[in-house]
Parts: sequence; C-alpha cells; structure tokens
Amino acid sequence: MTETKPPSVAVYPGTFDPITNGHVDIIKRALRMFDKVIIVIAVNTQKTPLFSIEERIDMINQCFSSTNDRIQVDITTGLIVDFAVKNDACAIVRGLRAVSDFDYEFQLALMNRKLERRVETVFLMTGFRWIFISSSIIKDAARHGGDISGVVPAHVRNALAEKFSRG
Ligand code: COA
Repeated sequence: MTETKPPSVAVYPGTFDPITNGHVDIIKRALRMFDKVIIVIAVNTQKTPLFSIEERIDMINQCFSSTNDRIQVDITTGLIVDFAVKNDACAIVRGLRAVSDFDYEFQLALMNRKLERRVETVFLMTGFRWIFISSSIIKDAARHGGDISGVVPAHVRNALAEKFSRG
C-alpha cells in the first residue's frame, strides 16, 4: 500500500504594512516549492504599523484569487515557530533583498531554530526588480505624493493615497 504524502506547508511571516509587489513575488516563488503558503501577519515590536490588521489582511487577500486554496492569510501575536508547528508547517519563508538583510535574517533564523528545531527557515531571493523596495520607503514616497505605481498592487496604491489624503 502506498502512503499519501502530507501536503508541504510553509509560513511566510511579516508585518505587511502594506504588502508590496516584492512580497507577492516571494509568495509566488514559495508556491513553486510548497503545496500551501500561509501568509502570517506577525507582530514586530519595533514597528508601529500605518494600517490596521484588518486593512492589511484585506490588502493581502485582494492580491490573490479567493478560490486559491493554496494560500491562506492569518495573524499571530505569539511566536512564529509556535504558529508554524500548530499549522503543520515545515518551513518559515523569508525573502532576501540585499546583503544588508542578511545579518538580521540570520539572527532571526538562528533564534527560531533554537526555539523550535522542527521548523527550517528557507530564504528566497527577491526578484531583481524588487531589491530596492521596502514598505517604509514606499509609504514615505506615497506620503510625499510620489508615484508608487509598479511597486505595489493598484489596490494598495489606492489605500495609501486614501490614508495620506486624510492627513
Ligand atoms: N520585497 C519588498 N520588501 C520586502 C521584501 C520583499 N520581498 N521582504 C521584506 N521586505 C521589507 C518589508 O517591506 C519590511 O520593510 P519595512 O521595514 O520598511 O516595514 C522589511 O523588509 C522587513 O519586514 P518583514 O519581512 O515584514 O519583517 P519584519 O522584520 O517586519 O517582521 C517578523 C519580522 C514579524 C516576521 C518577526 O518579528 C516575527 O517573527 N515576529 C513574531 C515573534 C517571533 O517569533 N519573533 C522571532 C523570535 S524572537
């Protein structure tokens, strides 16, 4: 009798304030490797997000077809490794843009490994077009009326424009 392999699940954590085309690029790459990717809005205590959790979930959901059952969006206020274990995920996906990301990502990955050895961190290279973007840089450009088309999906651009037009 042949055993059925359980689906491979990865979690992709981040602040997603807001989701950018760079994040979407990483999610699409992860979907080539894993059966399912859970995009998790996690708390980075160093950050004060511009968008509420509900707004961020909504913007992420709008990036993908609602019928795509290989993508799930969730939130956690706890440790990402605990979330991964609870959701039978074997890996945490993180995107690398430039060498400057490496130090922090290396520390994060080693701490996560220390906390939970069953979950591996997998680094994926961001597409070249997205190497120089980050949510903060995009928010700053939008705040000053800069053109951010092409670096975020249209609905995110509209949400940023609305946020900043309200002052
Ligand atoms: N394209 C564009 N930008 C990207 C990107 C990509 N592919 N990948 C990352 N970025 C940017 C993000 O926009 C973000 O920009 P910002 O700093 O201007 O907001 C930055 O790179 C990194 O953010 P992100 O990937 O969202 O990570 P984070 O550092 O905000 O979040 C957590 C880190 C939330 C995943 C981490 O703190 C965590 O796991 N928290 C839960 C508690 C926990 O388990 N901690 C670890 C053990 S102590």
